[in-house]
Amino acid sequence: MSRLDSFLRRLAAQRTLIEAAAAHVASLEGPIVELGIGNGRTFDHLAALFPDRKVFAFDEYFHSAVGVLPAAECMVSGDIRDTLPFALPRLGARAALVHNDLGAGDPSQHAAIAAWLAPAIEAVARPDAVVITSFLLPFKRSVSLPLPAGVKPGRYHLVQLVPPQDVPSV
Ligand SMILES: C[S@@+](CC[C@H](N)C(=O)[O-])C[C@H]1O[C@@H](n2cnc3c(N)ncnc32)[C@H](O)[C@@H]1O
Repeated sequence: MSRLDSFLRRLAAQRTLIEAAAAHVASLEGPIVELGIGNGRTFDHLAALFPDRKVFAFDEYFHSAVGVLPAAECMVSGDIRDTLPFALPRLGARAALVHNDLGAGDPSQHAAIAAWLAPAIEAVARPDAVVITSFLLPFKRSVSLPLPAGVKPGRYHLVQLVPPQDVPSV
């Protein structure tokens, strides 16, 4: 497959998964979190799907196309490893949906990021939040949601966090 075909498939998979995830979180209150705004493509799609929710974007730099920047209160700049774990007061409520687009295409780098990113997401997300991620994240408790038709397994992941069980009374 050419790199152009691969890129097109990636973008199509992102759009399909974001729309599937939007249906999953329709009944879950909370803001939306975009990790890695980049050129603003997926942020803009999330903002269009969630006109009544705050969509926060995290990135080292905000250089996306003019008109695609979030409101200032929803922009969190800096290394996500430093900003995300402490972002709950900024979000105002636990996130219903998190989209992780920090992938760099390198499995070793993904493993290193995943180790700090999973607990950072857990620190700011609802216990039943939905997460779209370009590489697997070692959450304490999560289940995989079925991938929509047309998304090749292994390329993108759709998961839902699972709240801890109530401690049974004795
Ligand atoms: C693949 S691009 C995101 C593409 C974007 N979602 C879009 O649709 O246009 C990844 C982005 O993640 C950001 N990024 C990667 N690691 C980061 C980190 N540790 N902290 C902050 N930003 C990071 C990069 O600056 C880059 O803008």
